[in-house]
Amino acid sequence: MSKRCLVTGSSGLIGSEVSAFFHAREFVVHGVDNNQREVFFGPAGNTRWNQHRLLQALRGFTHHELDIRDRAGVLQLIETLRPAVIIHAAAQPSHDLAARIPFDDFDVNAVGTLNLLEAARRFCPESPFIHMSTNKVYGDRPNTIFLKELETRWDYADAAYAQGIAEDFPIDQSKHSLFGASKVAADVMVQEYGRYFDMPTCCLRGGCLTGPNHSGVELHGFLSYLVKCNLEGREYRIYGYKGKQVRDNIHSADVASFMFEFYQSPRRGEVYNLGGGRENSCSILEAFEAVQKCSGRKQVHSYTDQSRAGDHICYYSDLRRMQAHYPKWKITRSLPQILEQIVASWRERLAI
Ligand SMILES: NC(=O)c1ccc[n+]([C@@H]2O[C@H](COP(=O)([O-])OP(=O)(O)OC[C@H]3O[C@@H](n4cnc5c(N)ncnc54)[C@H](O)[C@@H]3O)[C@@H](O)[C@H]2O)c1
Repeated sequence: MSKRCLVTGSSGLIGSEVSAFFHAREFVVHGVDNNQREVFFGPAGNTRWNQHRLLQALRGFTHHELDIRDRAGVLQLIETLRPAVIIHAAAQPSHDLAARIPFDDFDVNAVGTLNLLEAARRFCPESPFIHMSTNKVYGDRPNTIFLKELETRWDYADAAYAQGIAEDFPIDQSKHSLFGASKVAADVMVQEYGRYFDMPTCCLRGGCLTGPNHSGVELHGFLSYLVKCNLEGREYRIYGYKGKQVRDNIHSADVASFMFEFYQSPRRGEVYNLGGGRENSCSILEAFEAVQKCSGRKQVHSYTDQSRAGDHICYYSDLRRMQAHYPKWKITRSLPQILEQIVASWRERLAI
């Protein structure tokens, strides 16, 4: 009999990719999503198109219109399904939005995660529980690393960070944004269920996760939104740091393949920094250049000196821990390949 895989946030970027990935490996996939992204971000955040895509493309896929804040509903669903693996990718994902909706942000990110963890402990404690965390758990402390300013980007001047930020980087005593703080709560709780209850849990502290299936909006989904602006000839606003702030970008398919590796050989209470690493990093200015090359359209942009509170000036993930624990896993999509796919997908969705 096929195993069941439960994916929260299944209509989102990561959830939809993971659903397809596990479906292709003979899992019966159950997705949980209530299109909360549209409530958070307005019509541009609507993820129903992706839900319908999955329902059409994945035979046997079941959509559950459930809010992860609904504790009784979450307990009941996991009791009924007893999935072989739980992938938790539902969240309020925006740094900036969280300050406007602190209760919703914490209830979804922290309490929603606890609801899932406790349901897992009661009904399927041996099933790997994979949680999408974020590099914002490190707050703005990465900004204290000595940096050098290059022509188009910032970079670490301290050789200790030549490979990027590793998992032992401190997570407290810095400014996180309320989003970063609610994700810290979830991250520590997921680790605790691993250590205290000996469950196979892990936290994946994402850099910029991206790909063609993102419903990118200004407040979340950097490359997706940037490409959308480029194609629509809409202004992209840069917030501070001269547009040289650096993010590392990873295709959602490479995120899904790591999750599958973890599922196959789970560990307990683990933490991994999961991004594109130095190789797949770019600054906003460099992203403009690369997207222009791909789309043939000039990027329209404006600049304000006001940076986003708690934003990283330079961040790329040190991938060595992941690669040491799971040597078969690697990044398979380069940044230009990722951009090509995002451009093609927005062209289709916007009919440009
Ligand atoms: N995309 C990134 O750059 C990035 C970076 C670091 C970490 N992450 C983390 O990865 C995870 C997935 O991110 P994403 O980019 O796929 O986000 P997304 O917004 O595309 O997908 C999240 C999905 O969860 C759903 N959702 C939100 N609240 C819900 C609730 N209360 N109940 C049920 N469903 C709900 C939304 O409708 C949406 O479809 C999140 O935890 C996010 O914090 C993302």
